[in-house]
Amino acid sequence: MNLVVVGPEAPLAEGLADRLRAAGLAVFGPGADGARLEASKHWAKALMQEAGVPTAGYWPAGSREEALAVLEAQGRPLVVKADGLAAGKGVTVADTVLEAREAIEAIFSGRFGTAAGSSVVLEERTHGPEVSVFALTDGERMVLLPPAQDHKRIGEGDTGPNTGGMGAYAPAPLLDRDGLEQVRSLVLEPTLASLRARGISYRGVIYAGLMLTASGPSVIEFNCRFGDPECETLMPLLGPELAAVLLACALGRLDRAPRLTIQPGCSACVIAAAEGYPGRIRRGDAIESSLCTSDTLQLFHAGTERDADGRCRTSGGRVLAVVAQAGDFDAAFERAYDGLAQVRFEGITFRRDIGHQVRSR
Ligand code: AMP
Ligand code: GLY
Repeated sequence: MNLVVVGPEAPLAEGLADRLRAAGLAVFGPGADGARLEASKHWAKALMQEAGVPTAGYWPAGSREEALAVLEAQGRPLVVKADGLAAGKGVTVADTVLEAREAIEAIFSGRFGTAAGSSVVLEERTHGPEVSVFALTDGERMVLLPPAQDHKRIGEGDTGPNTGGMGAYAPAPLLDRDGLEQVRSLVLEPTLASLRARGISYRGVIYAGLMLTASGPSVIEFNCRFGDPECETLMPLLGPELAAVLLACALGRLDRAPRLTIQPGCSACVIAAAEGYPGRIRRGDAIESSLCTSDTLQLFHAGTERDADGRCRTSGGRVLAVVAQAGDFDAAFERAYDGLAQVRFEGITFRRDIGHQVRSR
């Protein structure tokens, strides 16, 4: 039997998994109904509230006037989120009321496209380190992957604008075994139960972006796909049963799947981006690489393409990911950065401090 794994959120939200299922294929990825977990922040917030899942307080607003009135009434900076998909660019964590007001104006001016520009969610700001947890589910049961930590900002020391993610590591010690079990019982099980109560059979991955606040984990967002660069970081740690587990999720029979083994050790990922990212980027630069991949060193292509002569060139913001595994994070990052040093293109941009939270050098 063939298995299709649908990766990105846009085709999932548009119902690609539904159409492939209707054509008789086994599909790992939610239908358009379940993908609303990512495609509508308002819908996801309402589901979380109903399910009692810990998340920041929020106010939905369907118009610019309504949003400005909420901000006025609250009289403090709130986090402003475009309701629809905005390719990770629809969120402003405002430090001042003025900044929040400008973010509202930007969204309703249609800057993030019409879908993302018709309503917003205003949120309380929460504080704490962030961690990503992935649950593979067949709609009834779930398997959790080791927690991973992303690095969203472009600049070293976690400064500058938000990006899709500049690097990651796993397993993130921020969540130990008990912490992960707490996320399962407080967040993932009730979310899945609420999806079921809505008649949604969610077969795919639920990605919970969490903030570990002083009072416990709080959901920042849900995604209906694997994270990038968390996925590249995690894959080398997952055992050979993965394909069978994904297929079992697709078929609604996770109870019959082999147990997913997790390799011991630490995985480190560093992203090489194009100059200018996350703003206007250089494109079309030739990529030279003498990196030899191995069992413990991988190179994942992202924003790359081959030209007419077969040469690999840059073609997107995040160009590639170098991922390495070792017995501890120091050694894993050393291996990843040594690998990255063997990749060259004009304007190559990367952070030297990925994993600073877990490195001693
Ligand atoms: P999102 O696109 O929802 O992942 O949000 C992007 C980033 O904005 C998150 O990774 C957080 O760093 C930040 N963020 C989102 N919501 C909040 C919140 N309620 N409080 C503080 N930071 C937030
Ligand atoms: N790494 C963040 C994301 O995939 O949304």
